[in-house]
Amino acid sequence: MTAPAQLKVLSIAELQPGMYVLSVHKQKGNVEIKTQGWARTAAVIEQLKKKGVLELVVDLSKTLEQPKVEVAPPAEPVATASGKTREKVSFEQELGQANTLYQQAKGLQKKAFADIQAGRELNLQPFQDCATGFIDSVFRNQDALLCISRIREKDAYLLEHSVNVSILMTIFAKQMKFDEELIQQLATGALLHDIGKILVPDSILNKPGKLTAEEFGEMRRHVVYSKEILEKIPGLSPISIDVAAVHHERLDGKGYPYGLADQQISLYGRMISIVDTYDAITAQRCYKEGQTGISALKILRRESPQSFDPALVAQFIKAIGIHPVGTLVKLSNQKLAIVLKANEQDPLRPVLKVFYNCKFRRYIEISIVDLASSKTDIEIEGAVMPEDFGIDLIRFFRQSVLE
Ligand SMILES: [Fe+2]
Repeated sequence: MTAPAQLKVLSIAELQPGMYVLSVHKQKGNVEIKTQGWARTAAVIEQLKKKGVLELVVDLSKTLEQPKVEVAPPAEPVATASGKTREKVSFEQELGQANTLYQQAKGLQKKAFADIQAGRELNLQPFQDCATGFIDSVFRNQDALLCISRIREKDAYLLEHSVNVSILMTIFAKQMKFDEELIQQLATGALLHDIGKILVPDSILNKPGKLTAEEFGEMRRHVVYSKEILEKIPGLSPISIDVAAVHHERLDGKGYPYGLADQQISLYGRMISIVDTYDAITAQRCYKEGQTGISALKILRRESPQSFDPALVAQFIKAIGIHPVGTLVKLSNQKLAIVLKANEQDPLRPVLKVFYNCKFRRYIEISIVDLASSKTDIEIEGAVMPEDFGIDLIRFFRQSVLE
């Protein structure tokens, strides 16, 4: 008896030897698959990748059993997006550079908004350079940029959101093992995905109360504005434009502006919708309190599969961790700490910087605690918001982590 077909669109990075390919779903070139069949070897997949194939339709029910092969860990140093060699470094070593990149990216956003408002064309190169900087930093040590992206300034949402989405998208794409050229296009698209918001009146963008139907319609139009702006940028990859155009689409077709559903939304579109929502939930806005990263992950899970692709949500959580670096957590000994270093083997036991006593509501002498150490039985009770304890995390962070 033949197994029922299990058709799925996979990115070229997800295609494994032994999978049965039906057709090309998305590509940069014009490859035609004349006969459906198995991609039997890694070399065949490599050829498809070289020819510009981005996504394929496969029938998972026909996947051939592959002999188990030991995969060797990647050799270090690894080649970078910019062609330089790149070595893995510690969180502390990367932090200063990551902070500089983050501040430059915010400056770039500010300038881009001013350019659009003044009717000037956007220059692509600085965005590509910024994306390359993010990729290099993420491959050296992703915790540094991830940490900085979590320390948010008040009233800087418009500038910080796209920068954060780009960083998170880079980390997510690295987790998906995409090649660096593709990560670069995704990171660039993410940096520009909300650029159209500058054409939405401030009174709507920052309205504290509920938007009227008409105002909501205008707010939704920011996606169309973004797409129109990006289509005018010479040399911008269609993938970058695509992620901006579909970042508010949802799997059940209830997203906007096009109401696309399921496979009509590209893999990259499904990824950016997750990242965009995660950052929006964790941000504090004039009309809402920010929520912890854990709450945001729970919401993403709850809204799967109707809004988000559950397999991708799982990959995203794997990419950033349950307690991402930079998270403020409350401990079982009633102290507060900031997560300094993730623990891949045991995500609930990261390395912490303990600095505040909740019982006496005062700062204490900083100590570094590794929860994985057998000498401690302290546990993380949960993530908390700095505002709940009157803590200015940016000041603390600048004083004690960056210096
Ligand atoms: Fe948006």
